[in-house]
Amino acid sequence: MAETRKFPHHLIREIFEQPDALRRTIAPRVSQAEGRVRLDEIHISREELRALRRINIVASGTSRHAGMTGQYMLQELAGVPVDVDYASEFEYRNPMIGRGELSIFITQSGETADTTASQREARQKGSRTIAISNVEGSTIAREADGFIYTDAGPEISIASTKAFTAQMACLFLFALYLGEIKEKVPKALAQHYIRELLALPEKTETILAASDKVEKLAELYYRVDDFMFLGRAIHYPIAMDGALKLKEVSYIHAEGYPTGEAKHGPNAMIDFRLPLVLIATCDRNNNDAGSVARYQQSVSNMEGFKKQGATLIALATEGDTIVPKIANHTIFIPAVPELLSPILEIVPLQLFAYYVAAKRGLDVDHPRNLVKAVTLE
Ligand code: BG6
Repeated sequence: MAETRKFPHHLIREIFEQPDALRRTIAPRVSQAEGRVRLDEIHISREELRALRRINIVASGTSRHAGMTGQYMLQELAGVPVDVDYASEFEYRNPMIGRGELSIFITQSGETADTTASQREARQKGSRTIAISNVEGSTIAREADGFIYTDAGPEISIASTKAFTAQMACLFLFALYLGEIKEKVPKALAQHYIRELLALPEKTETILAASDKVEKLAELYYRVDDFMFLGRAIHYPIAMDGALKLKEVSYIHAEGYPTGEAKHGPNAMIDFRLPLVLIATCDRNNNDAGSVARYQQSVSNMEGFKKQGATLIALATEGDTIVPKIANHTIFIPAVPELLSPILEIVPLQLFAYYVAAKRGLDVDHPRNLVKAVTLE
């Protein structure tokens, strides 16, 4: 699909390249028959990984949002506690890390100074390090013990899209890899998740095929000056990145917030003037009681916001008949296990940010004041 269509900007082309980027990132590293993930570039022994006590994830911007989803993936599948830090804050926090711990540095460019500096500090403190980057041979890749390459192809647009979904796929692959080593993920479960990973590119194409629906939504809202994006649990990082995308390319003030936290303050702002984008997807196919419970809480929150007169744009799972009755607009994504849902959920939000910015007549590939890689601390 990416090859055949002519695109007016790098950003929209890169959004449409995500199915291929996911295929290249996932397929060569999984064996469904064996239920195994192969990550040849890790260069950290199974023994050392099995003994891991804690993982720190450090990144900036969109890459940190990938790290936030990785926290849920790694804790759920590998049973290892995970902390996530802003790279620009990491060095000021005097991180209490050391031997027996792993620090993962996520950076599309591999050159973000805050992130490369943080890795050097982690190594000095005795932590093993892995870099997840889109640039082989980059500083972060050269200086890390291990490397997981997001094979997304060069990402030109300043706002990160295909590298982001590829980063989340790499974090999931690593969580499965570590979960198998720690004997937390039985073979049948690994085979199930690998099947679901391999189905992601096609599900992404389904979302992209309905991009005109998102464009129509952007037509209704591109003049708005404030947005709030809400998501619970693993969906919260996607609310954060949906808000960041809109800020980066359209200069609209947008805030990402945990859905359940809105009642502690932000709710005072919510009325007809503040459109809410709320992630209310649900994994009904895998007996995931947690996903259903989180969904029900989000539906209840939506009803409350509606009573306050809010305008609701909801992300829901195909087949959902409850959310569309409450929301003013509903965008559907294909059913997927909750741990993989962020990879699909961000796509409509990327499209929304792109169409809003394009309708505002802005230079979507080169937003003012931003650079693709901040190589100065
Ligand atoms: C910012 C970009 O400058 O750097 C963001 O505008 C990006 O899109 C962030 O997420 C981090 O970049 P990298 O290369 O470290 O992932």
